[in-house]
Amino acid sequence: METAFALEMVRVTEAAAIASARLMGRGDRHGADRAATEAMRRTMDELEMRGTIVIGEGERDEAPMLWIGEPVGVRGEEHAEIDIAVDPLEGTNLVAHGQANAITVLAASERGGLLHAPDTYLEKLCVGPGAAGHVDIRQSATENVRAIASSLRRDVRDITIVILERPRHEPLIEEVRATGARIKLISDGDLSAAISCAVSGTGVHGVMGTGGAPEGVLTAAALKCLGGEIQARFRFRNDDERARAEKMGTTSDESVVLTTNDLAPGDQLIFAASGVTSGDLLHGVRFFAGGARIHSLVMAYQTAEVRFVDAVQMFDRSRPPAVRL
Ligand code: FBP
Repeated sequence: METAFALEMVRVTEAAAIASARLMGRGDRHGADRAATEAMRRTMDELEMRGTIVIGEGERDEAPMLWIGEPVGVRGEEHAEIDIAVDPLEGTNLVAHGQANAITVLAASERGGLLHAPDTYLEKLCVGPGAAGHVDIRQSATENVRAIASSLRRDVRDITIVILERPRHEPLIEEVRATGARIKLISDGDLSAAISCAVSGTGVHGVMGTGGAPEGVLTAAALKCLGGEIQARFRFRNDDERARAEKMGTTSDESVVLTTNDLAPGDQLIFAASGVTSGDLLHGVRFFAGGARIHSLVMAYQTAEVRFVDAVQMFDRSRPPAVRL
């Protein structure tokens, strides 16, 4: 798979980005998510693979498409078996309100290369390559902030930690503030923030706090490609979620630290994300007469390839737009 397949995969996130960007600011988070999901599903079925959704929009009975276990792709005998994790629209509220940092995302791997995580929460600590190997989620936030700063050879006051703005994070926010580090509180989108901390120039150096487990698996795939690191621990909301984790064959022990490799063990990982609304990492979709411009990040782990793709999609061949530099 690798290079050619990665470029096929980015077409999937591009299609989802165009579809959901049309609904920016309309106050319709479900509509934006549906548009992304439908576009992703449609485009994915054109790919020559025997794909299986391992992280998707939910269980078969609760999601109309891209449900966990759903077969996708052309599915010829000769095609490779691929596991796929999707977050068709990361930041449904962000798109609904026209706010920054919404992306469309997927990761793919050989069978078994992505943890089958239940739809629960993970406590996460994410860093880029400079701080990878220097942090430990079992230590305090203070120690980890200091470790990030010293491994990046910065003063603590010169690093920025991203935290989801939630009541559950009030003690964490207080503690990080006390270290002197800068904090960026986000309303949604810890996956895009986590990728940003592994991309120099985004101004993000770490992500801390509890967010979605499916997003954690996608984060692991991205950070593995970029040489960054995620450490995580399950944070279940109830016994049902704990039982579900056991049924899916993952740990239900909240003290177990899951590493990047536990979450994304694959060797043939591919990760693709496209910007829907502009943010720290990617431009959002820019529409113009007859077309749209889409900005994406696509990576292949085994071949160590990282590409930022700046694509123009023409909508009407009979009225082609003038493509700009
Ligand atoms: P959407 O799935 O609605 O786009 O939300 C994404 C997100 O903000 C993730 O980035 C984050 O991991 C999770 O939701 C946080 O969940 P909660 O809103 O329940 O705290």
